[in-house]
Amino acid sequence: MKLLLSWIAFLFITQASPAREAKEYDKDVNYDEGKTPHYDLPPLLISSQGKKITTPEQWRTIRRPEILSLFSHLIYGCIPEPAFPLQVEFEVAKVRPDFMEGKATRKDIKIHLSNKIGRMAMHVIVFIPNGASKPVPCFLKHSFQDTGSKDFESSILQPEKLRNGWPLGKFIDRGYAFVAVYHEDLVRHNEVEFRSGIHKLFYPEGQSFPKAHEWGVISTCAWGAMRAMDYLETDQDIDHTRVAVMGHSKMGKTALWTAAQDERFALAISAQSGCAGAALWRRKSGETLKKMVTRFPYWLCRNAWKFVEQEDDLPIDQHMLLACIAPRPVYVHSGLKDTWADPRGEYLSAYHAGEVYRLLGEKTLLTAESPPPVGEALIASQVGYHLREGGHSIEDFDWNSFLGFADFHLKPKTPPKTP
Ligand code: GCU
Repeated sequence: MKLLLSWIAFLFITQASPAREAKEYDKDVNYDEGKTPHYDLPPLLISSQGKKITTPEQWRTIRRPEILSLFSHLIYGCIPEPAFPLQVEFEVAKVRPDFMEGKATRKDIKIHLSNKIGRMAMHVIVFIPNGASKPVPCFLKHSFQDTGSKDFESSILQPEKLRNGWPLGKFIDRGYAFVAVYHEDLVRHNEVEFRSGIHKLFYPEGQSFPKAHEWGVISTCAWGAMRAMDYLETDQDIDHTRVAVMGHSKMGKTALWTAAQDERFALAISAQSGCAGAALWRRKSGETLKKMVTRFPYWLCRNAWKFVEQEDDLPIDQHMLLACIAPRPVYVHSGLKDTWADPRGEYLSAYHAGEVYRLLGEKTLLTAESPPPVGEALIASQVGYHLREGGHSIEDFDWNSFLGFADFHLKPKTPPKTP
């Protein structure tokens, strides 16, 4: 009887905590490292003309623009010129100096976007620490939640958090402003029509759908974060030279693409960004290009479809996206059970991007093909990383590591001298 009970208990435990998180689309997905195909990554430091890139100048003027153009045309989609000039206007719609029991000031910003075709607005919320001397460094977070919703009020049970679970108090206490940008103002989560939202303001006569090389959903969200940055540049409370962009999952992909293109972002953090984020396409581990374009056909641009099951033909892979952020600090976060996002592929991107950081004279401590031990955050490195136990979420350990990384890289190393 005792034996039977312990056998039942064993079965219960192993079922209740599987080695990885099961996904609805698990069929035909490889999670077995032994079955990862052999692949050769495209070289970071050889130009498409076969020229060796040996100096920071050559990286900046030849290879980086080449790689960004490939990501724009083949993966995420380019932002076209709008048919008629776009007006961008900022409205500070509401200011609440007593947010979170007086710790923070909350500003609700409306960014009005308009031209001859029409007008629309995207909403951004800015939380500023009341006690800190201004201007303050800032975290801009790509958000899944509507910034107009109750999710962005303080939580009644945990006053240091927002109702959506974001630990706003941690950021405010450490002297950071926190900014939330909601992308569905511009484009819906799984948009398939592109008749509403921002796209329509960009179509010349006769166009009603993005061309094969034009912006998909992720590129659109990245564009939105850049418009939020336009606003931050005008906000006297914020030091716009010290803005970190971050996001989780789909928004982690977006954070990387945002920072890769826009050098105004001083630092980037991708939490469990996986496929089309930090994970390498060629490993085909967890979510693949095929899975992604089947379920979310327009997160990427239509040109990306051509590489389904032809990943080896891509002239780029995701380590090159991280490299485009260099020499600015970038942080990659993975979860051991988050195998859909291919934690090993996420790590390898970070590791291989190091080649460009070193060319630019920056140190990265990711020097081996195996990641640092589980639960150890590598912060004092231009390419930071951690892998923790557990699955697809942002936990306290992750938030603290992101803050530690930002403290290390964005805060002055020696306190300013008092006269
Ligand atoms: C899906 C998708 C992932 C994405 C995730 C998310 O699982 O396949 O690529 O990262 O949603 O955004 O939460």
